[in-house]
Amino acid sequence: MHRPAAPEYGDIQALARFGHGGLKEARFLLLAIVDAVRACEWIRGASVNSAEWSESPPQTALQIAISAEGLRELGVCDDLIEQFSDEFIVGMSADSNRSRRLGDVADNAPDQWAWGGSADAVPHLLLMLYAKTDQLTTWSENVLDQCFGEAFKIIADLDTTDNDSIEPFGFTDGISQPDIDWGREQSTDLHQRDRFSNLLSLGELLLGYPNEYGQYTERPLIDPASDPQSLLLPTAEEQPHLRDLGRNGSYLVMRQLHQDVPAFWKFMDQQAQGDHEKREQLASSMVGRQRDGTPLVERVVQPIEGIKTSGKQAVLNQFNFDNDPHGQQCPVGSHIRRSNPRTGDFPPGVTGLLSRLVRIFGFGRKHPGDDLIASTRFHRLLRRGRAYGEQLSEEEALKPEVQQVERGLHFICLVANISRQFEFVQNAWSMGAKFGGIQNETDPLLGNRQPLSNGASTNHFSQPDADGPAHCTHGMPQFVTVQGGAYFFMPGIRALRYMASFSNARGRAES
Ligand code: HEM
Repeated sequence: MHRPAAPEYGDIQALARFGHGGLKEARFLLLAIVDAVRACEWIRGASVNSAEWSESPPQTALQIAISAEGLRELGVCDDLIEQFSDEFIVGMSADSNRSRRLGDVADNAPDQWAWGGSADAVPHLLLMLYAKTDQLTTWSENVLDQCFGEAFKIIADLDTTDNDSIEPFGFTDGISQPDIDWGREQSTDLHQRDRFSNLLSLGELLLGYPNEYGQYTERPLIDPASDPQSLLLPTAEEQPHLRDLGRNGSYLVMRQLHQDVPAFWKFMDQQAQGDHEKREQLASSMVGRQRDGTPLVERVVQPIEGIKTSGKQAVLNQFNFDNDPHGQQCPVGSHIRRSNPRTGDFPPGVTGLLSRLVRIFGFGRKHPGDDLIASTRFHRLLRRGRAYGEQLSEEEALKPEVQQVERGLHFICLVANISRQFEFVQNAWSMGAKFGGIQNETDPLLGNRQPLSNGASTNHFSQPDADGPAHCTHGMPQFVTVQGGAYFFMPGIRALRYMASFSNARGRAES
């Protein structure tokens, strides 16, 4: 049997493999290129960390992602840029239909963003700098040397907060991630994933590899003659006569999400009429986990592929929602259930050839919710965000005189297909007012609470109850507001050098 080559960790930026959890300090710089020749020079000389670690993890890490505008500024030719996906080329904020689908209207509208909201505010480059505690400032100064200042203008310099993976509302974050099949051992055959599996094809994260459909995502493939500087771009696996500019790269989605922590806890408290336990219970139902990450449904007996069967991961992640179809334990509309409904290709109970055929041809008895949620494996995100702003305890948040401070989440996720992965989750699942058969609700954390086109309000959250009618919470204010966002491409390291070679050639030709 043909065995795929070993993962090309040396060419993959480390962020695709590691969250840099040990590097507690991080800073994200959004940049505009002011001098393309110098910018290319700086990029070519930058020590970008790869996913290959020979011994211990590094003390610092630098990762680089580029927007479509950034590629243009660097001098990458249009016919190469056009081979990237449409949503990357158009960008997050330039199309009002996209903004509507993503929920970026009213208080979330791009014209109110601090960055990324208008064509001239779209950053060209995103630098992600990570360091061990107390090392970030000194190390950043070295990275941002004199040449840097001549090449770039800083549009936004985003700090992050080290709060041991607790997001500002007070819940443990970063618990559930897909398990990437780096060794490419699983089959990508469409009919091999009846049940929810957490194991994900490499092609759902990186371009240049087969995805969950067994297909290669479209990306720029080039004639070897267009690699005059012999930067040895990788070969396209399915078209070996071409070089692959996308291979080992991922699309990177970034959104700055302000969290109104006082409004969140004051609302919970008001609903719970001051009862601490009820307040916790309501907030946990909205997230879909308790504060320490404990799931609201029981652990399943049968191991889930791609989830460890022992240790912390097993305790926090060895579950799906098959035994809670109506959301009586974990509400269907909760944040984690919307973001990852843990569904397989077939509804629960459909196993074996005969029962699958019955479903494929549309016969058999159906549960009303069966077909409402698409199979999760086509819509996974690898999250790499960091919190920002000073932490505020629930007790502080409840005080009447509490100050409104900038705090929230720099949401970052890596995907191979922005529209099928990030946009689908954000639009169909998080902002979907009919997700899973529930009506007139959107994600309790992320929802913008805007009325639907038929005038129906969306500021509700329902918790089905096994012993009676669903408990419905009404009048929820908006807790999360978008303050910036953009789509980037985080290229493989050889591709990054290649992208930074155009302006140099142009500069030489012009002189
Ligand atoms: C300020 C905004 C947000 C907050 C406070 C937040 C909070 C959380 C928390 C507490 C968890 C549970 C911990 C975990 O499983 O890792 C979680 C999970 C998750 N969130 Fe968010 N999140 C936010 C925005 C988003 C956005 C914008 C998306 C994507 C559109 C998203 C997608 C996910 C996914 C995919 C999971 C994992 C679900 C699972 O696999 O079980 N989140 N989030």
